[in-house]
Order: sequence, then C-alpha cells, then structure tokens
Amino acid sequence: METKILLTEKEMSTHWYNIQADLPEPLPPLLHPGTKEPTILPPPLFAAALNEQEFSKERWIEIPDEVQEIYKLWRPTPLYRAYRLEKALDTPAHIFYKYEGVSPAGSHKLNTAVAQAYYNKKEGIKRIATETGAGQWGSALSLGCQYFGMELKVYMVKVSYQQKPYRRIMMETWGAKCVASPSQDTAIGRKILAENPNHTGSLGIAISEAIEDAFSRDDTHYSLGSVLNHVLMHQTVIGLETQKQMEKVDVYPDIIIGCVGGGSNFAGMFLPFVKDKISGKHSKLEIIAVEPEACPTVTKGPLAWDYGDVAGMAPIAFMHTLGHSFEPPPVHAGGLRYHGMAPIVSHVVKLGLVKARAVKQLATFEAAIQFARTEGIIPAPEPAHAISVVIDEALKCKKEGKKKNILLALSGHGHFDLGAYEQYLSGKLVDYEYPEEMVARALRDLPQVKR
Ligand SMILES: Cc1ncc(COP(=O)(O)O)c(C=O)c1O
Repeated sequence: METKILLTEKEMSTHWYNIQADLPEPLPPLLHPGTKEPTILPPPLFAAALNEQEFSKERWIEIPDEVQEIYKLWRPTPLYRAYRLEKALDTPAHIFYKYEGVSPAGSHKLNTAVAQAYYNKKEGIKRIATETGAGQWGSALSLGCQYFGMELKVYMVKVSYQQKPYRRIMMETWGAKCVASPSQDTAIGRKILAENPNHTGSLGIAISEAIEDAFSRDDTHYSLGSVLNHVLMHQTVIGLETQKQMEKVDVYPDIIIGCVGGGSNFAGMFLPFVKDKISGKHSKLEIIAVEPEACPTVTKGPLAWDYGDVAGMAPIAFMHTLGHSFEPPPVHAGGLRYHGMAPIVSHVVKLGLVKARAVKQLATFEAAIQFARTEGIIPAPEPAHAISVVIDEALKCKKEGKKKNILLALSGHGHFDLGAYEQYLSGKLVDYEYPEEMVARALRDLPQVKR
C-alpha cells in the first residue's frame, strides 16, 4: 500500500451528505431564545439557503459549481498511511490519517467558509460578522469572503488574539477586520469589559458580539464555523473522500478518531461512515470523539437545552453543554474551548453510535511531538487530542495482539501554535483539572425549558 492515497479532482464529491435523512430518531428542534418555541435560524442573520439546509431531510445536497471550483484549490485532500508512527509504536494496527491542513487556511474550516460566503453573496449580503477562537475559523472565513468579494469583521477571543498574532495578520492579509473580544465595538462587549477590563474572553462571548453586530446592520449576516447542522454537512466532503480513498486500498476502518470543539471536523469525517453503523452494514465500527479534560462537554456535561452563546441571543439547542456562562481554562486548543456540542454529535452520542473521551493538555502535546517526529506534520493542538487517543488505541492493539485499522481526522496544522509547542518543550506547559465548581455554577444558568 502506498503512503499517500490520492484522488483526482474528477473524483471529488459533487454533493454533501445530510445525516438527517438517515437518523433513526429525528433531531430535537432549535428553540427561540425568547419564546422557547421551535424556530428556524434567525432570518436577519442567515442566508435562506443555509436555513433550508439546516432542517433539510434530503440525503444529498448538490455542491454549487462555484464552490466546487474553489474546493479544487486544495481538495481532494490526501489520506496517509502512518507507516512511520506505526513503526515507532511497534503496533500491529494500521493507522490512516486524512489531512485537512493542506487547505490555504491550514484547516478543515475553509470547507464551510467557502460555502457560507457563496450562499450569502448570492442573496445580496455584502458583509459578514463572526467570532473566532484560535483564529482558524476567522482566517478561513476571511479567505472565503475574499474569494467572493465580501467584507468580514471577526471578533477573536482575547486570549488567542494575544497568544496568536499571526492568525490576525492572516485575516488582515485576506482583507478582514479583526478585533479582540470582548471588544468596545458592541454593547455586550462593553458591558463585560466594564465588569472586568482584563477579561480574557470566550467563544460564547465572541459569538454574542458577532450576533449583535449582524443584528445591527441590514447589509450584514452572521456566520458560525461549527455546531450547526449545515456547517457539519459542508464538512462531509472529508468523510466522503476518505470513503473513496479507503475503498481504493480495500480497507474499512475499525475505529475512527477525531477531536471535537463544536463538532464540525469530526462529524464531517464520521457522518458518512455512521450511516453504515446505523444500517447494520458495519455495526462494530467504533467512533471516538476526543475533547479536553479542561472543557469536557460530552464526557461530563449533561444533555440539556442551552443557549449557543453567553448573552442568550442565539437559539436554544438540545446538546451536551457545560452551561453557556462557563468560561473554559485557557488551554492552547482554542478551538476546543466551547461550552456546547453540535446537536447532531450530541444526538448520535445519545443513540450510542459515538463515544467520547477527554484528554489532558500535556498528554496531547506529548502525542503531537511523537507524531511530528515520525510523520513530520506538526499538528494543531486541537487534533493533537485525537492523536493522543490514536496512540493509546494503537498501543492497546499491540498489547492485545490485534490488527485494527485506525482512522484519524487530522483537521489542521499547528504552524501558528508554535508558542504552545515552545512552552511544552521548555517544560512550562501545565495541565488544567476539570473545573467542576465553575461548571456546576454555569449549569445553574441553563434556560428553563418545558418540553
Ligand atoms: C484545527 C482545528 N481542529 C478542530 C477544531 C474544533 O472545531 P470543530 O469541532 O468544529 O471541528 C478547530 C476549531 O477552531 C480547529 O481549528
């Protein structure tokens, strides 16, 4: 088997896969934050086409030609066989990884950024407001908007804005305006800064600022880089390509492993496969979602109704949550510091189709270094969580003398996270324990929903 399993542009997916067509139980509705009745996404914030995709039950949704043309700049992405990591681990397991870091923005986020910019542009929208954690989403949407000649304002979580200036410069290079959140540019930002001028920010706050911005202008829509159904669906190009690539070498995965922040990269990988688990074709397939011990949304958070943002302006979703007012410790995997989890991911966990594990920060960097020293790619801190579990599973195969096929969703590179690597290599990086009391406090703020 070759090291790289490649597809041609002609073999790219022409459609996104919509899991809602195949779920054994339908998803719970989204609720209006005020009335708490079922709602669509707020029309002043979202393109109608995206709203339609959010609730569609059609199995396949065509990828517009303009989006496919742009996808060709980096898609199909390579699937690798991790021969060198396998050798270093001395494992009988075969490890495969699908690498989304080859996109110009360095991660999977561009797959939905291009689609969202396209649909907004088509409906006459000139400007988009969004939030970003580590800067991956903000930089991807900056490029997505640039491809379609749109303006973008990014509210970037302050701790990342300070830790990762290069991501801001990337956004500016692609024409976006980026401010640290909480900012002085919105009422919610000013309120939070008045209470605590040194607030380091959170994704929930940045989302509230971007929503407020978009509500306040007719020419502006809001865009979310994860969590929502349509975002996860845009990412299914990852899993659909991987299926074709694995078929080429006549392999089906035994275990699929990925990291979850809001859930989009991993869902993009596993949703096309979970269909085989639902249908019974591959009922033994294991799917493991990995999250930080410091922000353990699925492993420790209840499945409950909660707001998507801190200010309670976003719709209420039924999801695993640590409480919308929870502020996660500043782990370097900024993209995994979100209080909630995609309703689709929460739902498939409830149905027993997907399991979750939490990993501590130091273990993720240890795994990332081993990956970098064998395979060469320096992973982003987010997928380093998944790598840590891949290594655990490969070592378990060794102990039990089992040859399993392990598939890793490698969502992006860590070239802008070298500050975190430096801290790890110089022994300064720390673990954060599960902040139990803070979570208990935040869970008291869950909205009261009678359903
Ligand atoms: C490289 C990378 N992987 C994973 C994530 C987590 O987000 P999601 O769960 O939506 O894929 C992020 C978020 O910023 C990211 O940048």
